[in-house]
Amino acid sequence: MSADVLPFARPTIDEAMVAAVADTLRSRWIASGPQVAAFEAALSAAVGGRPVRSFTSATGAMAVALELLGIGAGDEVVTPAQSFFASANVIERAGARAVFVDVDLATRNLDLDQAAAAVTPRTKALLPVHYNAPLDPAALAAFRARHGVRVLEDAALAIGSVAGGRPVGATGDLVSFSFHPNKNMTTIEGGALVMNDADEAGRVERLRFHGIVRLPDGTRDLEAAGGKYNLSDVSARLGLAQLARLGEWCRARERLAMAYFDALSGDDLVTPERLPPRTNPGHSWNLFTVLLPLADIALSRKQFIDAMQREGIGIGISYEAIHLTSLYRAKGWREGRFPVAERIGRETVTLPLFPEMTETDVDRVCTSLGRVLRSRAA
Ligand SMILES: Cc1ncc(COP(=O)(O)O)c(C=O)c1O
Repeated sequence: MSADVLPFARPTIDEAMVAAVADTLRSRWIASGPQVAAFEAALSAAVGGRPVRSFTSATGAMAVALELLGIGAGDEVVTPAQSFFASANVIERAGARAVFVDVDLATRNLDLDQAAAAVTPRTKALLPVHYNAPLDPAALAAFRARHGVRVLEDAALAIGSVAGGRPVGATGDLVSFSFHPNKNMTTIEGGALVMNDADEAGRVERLRFHGIVRLPDGTRDLEAAGGKYNLSDVSARLGLAQLARLGEWCRARERLAMAYFDALSGDDLVTPERLPPRTNPGHSWNLFTVLLPLADIALSRKQFIDAMQREGIGIGISYEAIHLTSLYRAKGWREGRFPVAERIGRETVTLPLFPEMTETDVDRVCTSLGRVLRSRAA
């Protein structure tokens, strides 16, 4: 890419996608219709034939999944303290309590031993997040069997990942994906939920669209006070074209991630423990995160990000520790409970990584990174 400013994420939109979306617009069938059905069938084929329904966001998919599981007041759901806020917020919005646990420093995935220790008689589900490595399906299945809880995998960052030899989504209980533009593929905004069987899919379809049930006499009944989360055909058509290139993009992401490891190796400030695991089978590399050596440099994270921006390089933060936000502090969570999540929350930055980048872009980022890390505040 030759543009002067390198963003930290950027979707690939090719001309065939533009044309396909234009065709859908010209068809005048632009809300949910045949393209949504085709997109869901293609997603299902990508996850071993399991039922999949699309949504206007992963947040919506997760909210409906928790409704499907009947999770509400008095219930607890165990989830990592390090994730995007949506993972915890959907639990609280369902009226249940998000019970945080700490994460592993390298993979940033939730620590299953701590999750086991957090299970109480009120625990109804585990909501783990695929972060810097795919979650282990065998470990999740064992957790589910041992504790008698449901599992909703937040795979927002992980469409295209492979775990235990199968695509993420092809195994497990409920699995949600995000198609936000920063993710591995996009529908502009959008998400999907993978379920176990046709009965769950039918219930999710109704919860997704007002709770409406169609009666034989052509009138409509309500089975629940459902929401409104259906994807548009315009988005679904984009999603179909994006899904066709997902494998190619994940391979490009992996190649660029390896270029980062090569370019950063030997940098005494960016030691391997500050990077994701390099040997990371099946990972689809949505994010390339670095823990800044704040104790060894003259800059704050904000000053680092601003200096990189001046070099024409966009830097993200993925993510703050959720339990330290005002909302969760007000619910009683305190600093010191989850030291790994807190350290990540303080030190993490996300470097540019998207399929249209080149190895030259990676070198440019790393050259700037090395210079900025050794500079003083402007
Ligand atoms: C881990 C994680 N979960 C959930 C979401 C929410 O996805 P969406 O924006 O599609 O609702 C995101 C989005 O950034 C995410 O990173």
